[in-house]
Amino acid sequence: MLKVFMFFAFLLTISHAQEELTFRQVMQIVNSATLRILQGFLLNNDELVVRGAEEIARHPMPKGGPIQYIDPSKRAEFLRAMPTFERQVHGSAEEITKLMREGKKDEAYEKFNWMLQGCMGCHRLFRDLERR
Ligand code: HEC
Repeated sequence: MLKVFMFFAFLLTISHAQEELTFRQVMQIVNSATLRILQGFLLNNDELVVRGAEEIARHPMPKGGPIQYIDPSKRAEFLRAMPTFERQVHGSAEEITKLMREGKKDEAYEKFNWMLQGCMGCHRLFRDLERR
């Protein structure tokens, strides 16, 4: 009984911890998942590709939602653009898993490329604004 209780306490801690992540920390998770996918393609390891894609498809949300981490002058534009980038990144991640399961690795790789363009597209608009 105590073990069961401790297990649930542990789960609660994890889910709570996820809610406490900043935008940067969420991005770091997504980033290592992206590298895992790349590694999977390079090493011809399907399992790594699928694992990375699933991590991206269900990545946690940053604490308090993403908008507060965005430069105030860019928030309205971010709200407009976010759904498109989300679709490009999440949608592709889901597609990658599906295509891998169907044995269509070349198409999965194309999707991976498209997903990366989503990452970079959003960064170009909303990250490192001073460096553009
Ligand atoms: C909807 C917009 C958006 C998308 C899509 C997006 N990012 Fe980001 N990313 C950002 C913003 C904004 C920051 C800066 C966050 C900050 O510094 O608070 C960032 C920061 C980062 C960072 C730097 C983290 C750090 O430690 O400073 C990495 C790495 C990163 N993103 C990787 C990715 C990858 C990989 C993807 C695609 C799988 C991706 N991002 C998709 C908006 C996005």
